[in-house]
Amino acid sequence: MENKLEELAKVCASCQKCALGATRTNSVFGTGNPNAELMFVGEAPGEQEDLSGVPFVGRAGQLLDRYLYAVDIARKDVYIANILKCRPPKNRDPLPDEETACIDYLREQVKIIRPRIIVCLGRISAMKLIKPDFKITQEHGKWFEKGNYLMTAVYHPAALLRDPRKKEDMMEDMKRIAEKLNELRED
Ligand code: URA
Repeated sequence: MENKLEELAKVCASCQKCALGATRTNSVFGTGNPNAELMFVGEAPGEQEDLSGVPFVGRAGQLLDRYLYAVDIARKDVYIANILKCRPPKNRDPLPDEETACIDYLREQVKIIRPRIIVCLGRISAMKLIKPDFKITQEHGKWFEKGNYLMTAVYHPAALLRDPRKKEDMMEDMKRIAEKLNELRED
């Protein structure tokens, strides 16, 4: 399992399938437990992630860490990745052709890790992975079954930094995710 992920990460590190290959410092493949039951998928690396090669280490990532801690989930037990593996200049939204070029890396990661639950972090990830017309304000915290996976979406931590009123909903959603994980373990 680990070897397959490592091999894929190496391919990703030298990927030139889209123009972001020319502007990145590091590709940000994903980190965490290769056998994780819970996987989080964000949008794309930001500045700190581009510099370090690790997803969700900047301000948004530190906020995500606090929610994980609050619901008693260890970051080392989950797997965290993004739709795009390279940072779009000035953190603009991913372009459709960049998503198309990159999505197979994520598909492969999911196939290797086989998590029980996939949590989309934010609208862009939910629109790509759950449904194209996903409405994050109305549908965050709802469960969707897709193939072998249970999927849900929560607000992107960066959105919580911009609008702290969303934090209450985020806490509720994260609690339900932790509960769902415990239920699945009991089955
Ligand atoms: N935002 C994301 O969507 N992903 C990261 O890795 C960091 C910030």
